[in-house]
Amino acid sequence: MELPARLCGLWALLLCFADGGDAAPTETQPPVTNLSVSVENLCTVIWTWNPPEGASPNCSLWYFSHFGNKQDKKIAPETHRSKEVPLNERVCLQVGSQCSTNESDNPSILVEKCISPPEGDPESAVTELQCIWHNLSYMNCTWLPGRNTRPDTNYTLYYWHSSLGKILQCEDIYTAGQHIGCSFALTKLKDSSFDQHSVQVMVKDNAGKIRPSFNIVPLTSHVQPDPPHIKNLFFQHGDLYVLGKNPQNFYSRCLSYEVEFNNSQTETHYILSVEEPKCDNLEFEGNLEGTICFRVPGVFPDTLNTVRIRVKTNKFCYEDDKLWSNWSPAMSIGKKANPTFYITMLLIIPVIVAGAIIVLLLYLKRLKIIIFPPIPDPGKIFKEMFGDQNDDTLLQGALPTIPCGTPGIKLTTLWLRACAPTNSHPRGSSSAQGAVFNLSCGGRSPPSLAGLEELNQQPCG
Ligand SMILES: *[C@@H]1O[C@H](CO)[C@@H](O)[C@H](O)[C@H]1NC(C)=O
Ligand SMILES: *[C@@H]1O[C@H](CO)[C@@H](O)[C@H](O)[C@H]1NC(C)=O
Ligand SMILES: *[C@@H]1O[C@H](CO)[C@@H](O)[C@H](O)[C@H]1NC(C)=O
Ligand SMILES: *[C@@H]1O[C@H](CO)[C@@H](O)[C@H](O)[C@H]1NC(C)=O
Ligand SMILES: *[C@@H]1O[C@H](CO)[C@@H](O)[C@H](O)[C@H]1NC(C)=O
Ligand SMILES: *[C@@H]1O[C@H](CO)[C@@H](O)[C@H](O)[C@H]1NC(C)=O
Ligand SMILES: *[C@@H]1O[C@H](CO)[C@@H](O)[C@H](O)[C@H]1NC(C)=O
Repeated sequence: MELPARLCGLWALLLCFADGGDAAPTETQPPVTNLSVSVENLCTVIWTWNPPEGASPNCSLWYFSHFGNKQDKKIAPETHRSKEVPLNERVCLQVGSQCSTNESDNPSILVEKCISPPEGDPESAVTELQCIWHNLSYMNCTWLPGRNTRPDTNYTLYYWHSSLGKILQCEDIYTAGQHIGCSFALTKLKDSSFDQHSVQVMVKDNAGKIRPSFNIVPLTSHVQPDPPHIKNLFFQHGDLYVLGKNPQNFYSRCLSYEVEFNNSQTETHYILSVEEPKCDNLEFEGNLEGTICFRVPGVFPDTLNTVRIRVKTNKFCYEDDKLWSNWSPAMSIGKKANPTFYITMLLIIPVIVAGAIIVLLLYLKRLKIIIFPPIPDPGKIFKEMFGDQNDDTLLQGALPTIPCGTPGIKLTTLWLRACAPTNSHPRGSSSAQGAVFNLSCGGRSPPSLAGLEELNQQPCG
């Protein structure tokens, strides 16, 4: 008889519960009414509601609210709640009323109101919309075009923050590779609460073809400082000291530092991470006000040392600490490489070069002889042809002196007609004497007498 016994137990439990329920004064509250939602600026979403109808007069009304997924629970007496939300996704708020500030108090039924992202193809919206606040003086926002977009889409960026009366359009659009960007001036205000705010940005196109994209940039993060500057390097008690200056707009306590140290001769390269840029026991004549100081131990003063520094924001003042500034201009100290080495090099290099040139010239001369053998003296050939003819001055003068291979001149076959002076002819012939040579380049082919007879018929000169 197990089952009846169990059932009895169950009944007892249920009865017990019912009794307890009756005993507790759980008067359920009526729900809030007229819950509505609206958007101000670019991404300030405001929910408003009215008090419940028929609430107990003894109840001091409180409102319990949270966003979808039970995030950001809040109990407050106001009948509105706002939040900066990048409207790329649907956001819902649930609100209920209750009579105390106690969270575990039973609130009324929760009423929900949602806000949806703007209409349009989500694939057309730009992606990776992000902004960096450079030097606390200008904001650079960049993004990538969405997948479903025409390549000639003209983008516009709008921005708003609490110090502006209205939404402004960013004018300075630029492209950097695949990314598109826009930068606008944003200077840190004296108002200390400014840092607590955010900048709301929205990117859409002029034609309204793409879905707008939103981002909210908290001013306590995404800050990239300008690089610091090195003012002085010196050795003291065997340590290297680096004196520098913070980038404008930043205090030392808000920055973390890296000191890079290079020595090309000893091939040392290391990076020193520094939180507090201060040097104790430094004997320094002069004002160290506003100066940052680093001590680099283990440096050889006899060699050339190169130093540069960079900074990033730290957790004391900012929420993220990932954006390093560029490196400062490098500064060097110490002697350059051994001067005798340079002198030796200065002497040796010209000797080597001269030797190389001589070898090259000799080689070139040999090469020239191989490729272009010398032209045989055509005067000699002429002499042979005319036997005892010895007056060859005229001929010599007429002979070509163009060497083979002269650029621009193609010397393949040259017909040369030579006239011997009639008066000196041994045979006393009154007719002009002529000779025609076929001078192949290099004189390899023997002189040809072809056409000589014909030519000889014509008067010479
Ligand atoms: C809700 O809004 C309607 C119209 O705006 C108004 O008539 C009604 O009184 C409101 N309800 C409450 C409880 O304020
Ligand atoms: C409201 O409180 C008063 C006294 O504090 C009490 O007399 C009255 O019965 C209470 N009314 C209700 C509806 O609880
Ligand atoms: C809230 O209510 C619970 C029980 O309902 C009680 O134990 C707790 O003390 C209350 N807290 C406050 C702050 O009133
Ligand atoms: C950094 O900001 C300061 C003051 O806001 C300004 O004077 C300086 O020119 C800025 N530096 C650069 C590189 O823009
Ligand atoms: C920020 O924008 C300016 C102006 O368009 C540009 O010159 C600069 O290179 C940008 N800086 C970075 C880090 O992208
Ligand atoms: C973008 O602007 C250019 C020039 O202003 C224009 O020729 C082009 O058609 C525009 N693109 C779109 C998609 O409207
Ligand atoms: C120091 O050495 C590193 C590694 O060799 C190099 O990347 C860096 O550019 C050097 N820095 C300077 C200032 O020459």
